[in-house]
Amino acid sequence: MIEFKNVTKVYPNGTVGLKNINVKIEDGEFIVIVGLSGAGKSTFLRCINRLHDITEGEIFIDGKSITAASGKELREFRRNIGMIFQNFNLVTRSTVLRNVLSGRVGYHSTIRTLFGAFPKEDLELAMKALDRVNIKEKAYSRADELSGGQQQRVSIARALAQEAKIILADEPVASLDPITTIQVMEDLKKINREFHITTVVNLHHIDLTRKYAEHILGFRAGELVFDGPIEAATDEVFAEIYGRPIGKDEMIGEGEDYE
Ligand SMILES: Nc1ncnc2c1ncn2[C@@H]1O[C@H](COP(=O)(O)OP(=O)(O)OP(=O)(O)O)[C@@H](O)[C@H]1O
Ligand SMILES: [Mg+2]
Repeated sequence: MIEFKNVTKVYPNGTVGLKNINVKIEDGEFIVIVGLSGAGKSTFLRCINRLHDITEGEIFIDGKSITAASGKELREFRRNIGMIFQNFNLVTRSTVLRNVLSGRVGYHSTIRTLFGAFPKEDLELAMKALDRVNIKEKAYSRADELSGGQQQRVSIARALAQEAKIILADEPVASLDPITTIQVMEDLKKINREFHITTVVNLHHIDLTRKYAEHILGFRAGELVFDGPIEAATDEVFAEIYGRPIGKDEMIGEGEDYE
């Protein structure tokens, strides 16, 4: 379980990213975070793996404080958390396989991985992960030879090879077309179900959110204004989160191209 207790994040320039957040995310949940630009969605995700330090409060993962962790303990926390970004964050000049293997780095000494010496088991794990997201045949291609959707699947495979227990995905489909978006969301959902990986995703589109979320967190100006199951997230709730009636901008399509 991920638990935020009275968490506030103030950036060095005084901007309040998160205001007194209290929330619990259960193991294996598929959580979607929604809110306007600047609402605090990325800040929330980045606090979970300490890419950002918080100003007040405490964050617990499985009952252990990540806020207080340092050194080896922090590295172990991070090893269990896979990150997926809008821009894929791959080493584009490296092969797909190398990118996926980089998910194993946290398990070995720096020297060993620096020279690219990964054990055979890691190689098998990486190939299996690529197979899971249907791009095994691309293993030896350079990452920048792949389409955006394929690159995002490589980053999902990297999180799988990492044997992450939590996946944090910051707008994983924002750079993708509607069809590819669905494929990537389906992959995320599939691995969430099969491996019971707690998945926390920031999304901009309400229709996508409705299709995939089990549990929604709505942020507005750094505050958590909605925390509930997808069934409870009515149009009125979304209008409240966004501070305006929902319109076309919040939809990916009319529905027919991704059903
Ligand atoms: N490094 C930073 N330094 C100062 N302020 C920041 C920093 N990063 C984010 N902020 C501010 O914190 C607030 C929350 O930003 P955040 O990036 O979490 O929003 P978001 O909901 O992810 O928005 P978007 O949908 O545009 O990605 C915003 O007011 C933003 O300007
Ligand atoms: Mg963001």
